[in-house]
Amino acid sequence: MAIRTIVTEGDPILGKTCREVTAFDERLHTLLDDMLQTMRKHDGVGLAANQVGLLKRVVVIEVDHKVYELINPEVLKTSGEQTGAEGCLSFPGQYGIVTRPNKVTVRALDRNGKPYKVTGEGLLARALMHETDHLNGIVFKRYCDHILTPEELENLGR
Ligand code: NI
Repeated sequence: MAIRTIVTEGDPILGKTCREVTAFDERLHTLLDDMLQTMRKHDGVGLAANQVGLLKRVVVIEVDHKVYELINPEVLKTSGEQTGAEGCLSFPGQYGIVTRPNKVTVRALDRNGKPYKVTGEGLLARALMHETDHLNGIVFKRYCDHILTPEELENLGR
């Protein structure tokens, strides 16, 4: 496994649409392992492949010590609403208030190409939306009216 470099704000790859994965081979498995290790190193909740410079529809998420590997994910259903601070490993130190669905069901393939569904609420729902957005070239800042000031962050208890 290896730590990959996370691309940051200003890199055009963050605005690009990632391509469907068709090969469920060792290369993909190495990418998934590396993405998880990279995300953990930076205390992240989720990471999309274009954040490590690859235009592939690959996401890793870790919430409540549970790891989700999502290949070619598709949002099937959303419901409810949650509003809260959101950040991104490609925008270090920046947080904004983003409203997301509170419950989300996603269909995806696992690392061997087997389809499965995941339903998440709260933070997991937020991460599922944030990461599938990445694959479509959308970053959280699009939804924020401003980036929180240090004072505003402090008031949120961060
Ligand atoms: Ni992000």
